[in-house]
Amino acid sequence: MAATIESVLSEKRVFPPSPEFVKQANVSGMAAYQALCDEAERDFEGFWGRLAKEHLHWSKPFNRVLDEANPPFFKWFHDGELNASYNCLDRHLASQPDKTAIIFEADDGKVTKITYKELHREVCRLANALKALGIQRGDRVLIYMPMSIQVVVAMQACARIAATHSVVFGGFSAKSVQERIIDAGAVAVITADGQFRGGREIPLKPVVDEAIGMGGCDAMRKVIVYKRSGSSVPMTAGRDLWWDEAVKGQGDTCDPVWVSAEHPLFILYTSGSTGKPKGVQHSTGGYLLGCILTMKWVFDNKPTDIFWCTADVGWVTGHSYIVYGPLACGTTVVMFEGVPTYPDAGRFWKMIQAHKVNVFYTAPTAIRSLIKAGPEEPKKYDLSSVRILGTVGEPINPEAWMWYHTTVGRERCPIVDTWWQTETGVIMITPLPGAIPTKPGSATLPLPGIMADIVDETGNSVGKGKGGLLVIKRPWPAMLRTIWGDPERYKKTYFPDDFKGKLYLAGDGASIDEDGYFRIVGRIDDVLNVSGHRLGTMEVESALVANSKLVAEAAVVGRPDELTGEAIVAFVVTKGPRPTGEEAKKVAQELRDWVAKEIGAIAKPKDIRFGENLPKTRSGKIMRRLLRSIARGEEITQDVTTLENPAILEQLKQSQ
Ligand code: WT7
Repeated sequence: MAATIESVLSEKRVFPPSPEFVKQANVSGMAAYQALCDEAERDFEGFWGRLAKEHLHWSKPFNRVLDEANPPFFKWFHDGELNASYNCLDRHLASQPDKTAIIFEADDGKVTKITYKELHREVCRLANALKALGIQRGDRVLIYMPMSIQVVVAMQACARIAATHSVVFGGFSAKSVQERIIDAGAVAVITADGQFRGGREIPLKPVVDEAIGMGGCDAMRKVIVYKRSGSSVPMTAGRDLWWDEAVKGQGDTCDPVWVSAEHPLFILYTSGSTGKPKGVQHSTGGYLLGCILTMKWVFDNKPTDIFWCTADVGWVTGHSYIVYGPLACGTTVVMFEGVPTYPDAGRFWKMIQAHKVNVFYTAPTAIRSLIKAGPEEPKKYDLSSVRILGTVGEPINPEAWMWYHTTVGRERCPIVDTWWQTETGVIMITPLPGAIPTKPGSATLPLPGIMADIVDETGNSVGKGKGGLLVIKRPWPAMLRTIWGDPERYKKTYFPDDFKGKLYLAGDGASIDEDGYFRIVGRIDDVLNVSGHRLGTMEVESALVANSKLVAEAAVVGRPDELTGEAIVAFVVTKGPRPTGEEAKKVAQELRDWVAKEIGAIAKPKDIRFGENLPKTRSGKIMRRLLRSIARGEEITQDVTTLENPAILEQLKQSQ
């Protein structure tokens, strides 16, 4: 595979958009893109202020665009007031009440549609129910739900009453749910009895019960349960109530609570380089503006578009490109409960055909797994409705890019390889489909107003043809505002003193080619990207050592994986003798299940190796670079003479 990537890379193919596409594009041609970039360069605040006025409904207009008095705690439009739910729903009611807002396809293929008017009513009813339960402005509500119309209703209802939501991906464990409830100080959880994926039911409410049962969820008062699977779940009297019960008799309208543009719309937890996930806090006004602009610029959003982003709402991609972006633009979105390979590897293509999807946005890992499972599958379906393809979450290898381009896009559709992060809120670096020629494997150029650069360790631009650290040099409206409850960590992680606190450090390594195109290489910190999901090596390590019965010491590293991008490899020193043979297999399985319980199935190490010790420097620091080489099966070229026991390297090379 590596050889193929090399050869495609060296071809240096460039794909300009077709003249027909350029003609109809919202940003039409390079000159139009350049004009927007120039406007932002010339008058940064004027540029963002103009766009915020044009694209958002303000109940009270803002006077101040950007407040930089207390960096890096930037404020955007903060004396202006608005409501996110109003901007997503109410403002479409007069012009397009009967337009479909969401086309939902369940795991079993059942399709449900809801119009803007109906969605507005459902949101108002739940918002009224939340108010009746005493939930107010500023309260945090945790959402642990399946992909469903109801999860959108739940998020919008929170936004409507100015409660801050925190959606937790349905694959996270009870322990992870508990930690997030405690960290956010959540007063309520909205969940479902269960969810269906690939024909199997996965319980949700029992996980919430277990999480709360672990203790410490002191602020928690109410659990609202949407009935999805119909499985019987125990209900705790006084605390738990069914969704239907909660909304029964509630009015069809609910006045939105107007908030400052800086009001925290949501907190979303993501992994960092320590064992504790970070609660990334986003704003209302700046975030929503970013969502709308990227829908229009990157996805060339048109009133007739059917837009499908395959991410789960539990990730930022789902927040921005299933819920807030598409709804604020009045678009029809497709939402899918299941998995791409069920009932077969043609599911995505079948759904594109059935729902006449125009813009399709997915992850490289999904593309790679579909190439493997059914490379010819797309050919069986009519994909002529598609006009733009997108990718997100990790670098896309040129080989997968070319397949996406030819087999899915039929060489007609621009591919937008979008680089961004939970922290950036919205897309930052990507080709504009009707302007910027694409190159396989490159996210190309920053969006207008996004001052991205690549710098060396001292903060100086590296210039074309070189590699370095990806940074953003000016604040942007959709950026995170802080880490919930930990402003120091926010400052230290993203605006480190190394760069005088002036540069936003993304944590990615990148290079710039001769055309100024960005190529994102991957994380430079202890963060892994497994199937487009971010995981901290420290997080998995802490989970392993938390098993005090079995584990004495653990070190976790990543290694490239054809399907998942990166795979987790754990090196473990057990308490008692080092397990071998069948015993080692058994212990490895036990530890995998343990990690799934501690964090979630996505964090299970693919490979677990046992040693009597770990390679350490004289000062006792684990030599991770050495472990990375071992995990990759590379020849060890580092100096190992300082190791106390070089023989352990042989032990650690043995996989279970
Ligand atoms: C990390 C952010 C953005 C939503 C999904 C992931 C990697 C993301 C790309 C891309 C290369 C990418 C980066 C980034 N990443 N998109 N197009 N090309 N790498 O959000 O979990 O916050 O992860 O994903 O390493 O830092 P996230």
